[in-house]
Amino acid sequence: MLSYRHAFHAGNFADVLKHLVQVEILNYLKQKDKPFAYIDTHAGAGIYSLSSEEAGKNEEFRTGISILKGKPLAGTEDYLEVVAGCKPEWDKSAVPAAGLYPGSPRIAQQMLRAQDSAHLFELHPQDFRRLDAMVARDRRMHAHNSDGFSGLLGLLPVAERRALVLIDPPYEVKSDYDTLVETVKKAHRKFATGVYALWYPVVDRQRIDKMEKALINSGIPRIQLFELGVGEDTEGRGMTSSGMIVINPPFTLMGNMQKLLPQLTQRLAGDNGVWRCEELVGE
Ligand SMILES: C[S@@+](CC[C@H](N)C(=O)[O-])C[C@H]1O[C@@H](n2cnc3c(N)ncnc32)[C@H](O)[C@@H]1O
Repeated sequence: MLSYRHAFHAGNFADVLKHLVQVEILNYLKQKDKPFAYIDTHAGAGIYSLSSEEAGKNEEFRTGISILKGKPLAGTEDYLEVVAGCKPEWDKSAVPAAGLYPGSPRIAQQMLRAQDSAHLFELHPQDFRRLDAMVARDRRMHAHNSDGFSGLLGLLPVAERRALVLIDPPYEVKSDYDTLVETVKKAHRKFATGVYALWYPVVDRQRIDKMEKALINSGIPRIQLFELGVGEDTEGRGMTSSGMIVINPPFTLMGNMQKLLPQLTQRLAGDNGVWRCEELVGE
């Protein structure tokens, strides 16, 4: 029943927010020499050609990375550098016309240091094959063709005692909303100091309100939320906004996002744009 393919959506406005936050957190973890682990519970294929048939279907990258690349904003330099650095290993001259876009595992691959490690989970057989090929020669990175929610719990606590966990389900299966919250609660009990970054789409606002409430009532401290929308909410007529909920965020994240999000929203969506930057739970 796996029909979601990230290739149709790579580089859209939701990916821009998600990956900007990912880059910011990885940079923060890299400030100390001590190793950290990166865990991606829903990894996707890893790298995407924006000239592919899938990306060309709705050209969603034109709602995100294409706009930003054409007119960069202060605060997006590190993210744009990672995007520009995404080249095919097999032939560096073979970049497709519309360019390549790095998925979250590829961003990690480009940013991790020799001492860091990564575990990537992907269920879709085709996307898993591409992901596995991308990391085949990379000793730091391990790809698993299995469920990311249970896979995460099996890995915690990590030996490094420092980690970024990205949880980015497609929400194709509606139970993903509840499974995410339940998994995060269990994960936090096993490993309370990890940074958890949870992506969500706003297709039905009530589902997100419920998810926020469940996290607020979970007893987990230090939770922030960042959201960017290209229009007001609709009732089930497609994704208008998306967000990242971050547990144990770097102390710099809120300030940076407060500066960046209003400008980024304006850049991507003009006056139709909407954004949120909120502390859901304090210390
Ligand atoms: C939104 S995409 C991931 C995008 C990726 N994180 C990125 O930012 O580049 C979600 C992926 O999760 C995969 N998936 C769905 N359910 C899964 C599960 N239970 N465990 C692992 N992967 C799953 C889908 O096949 C899909 O490729």
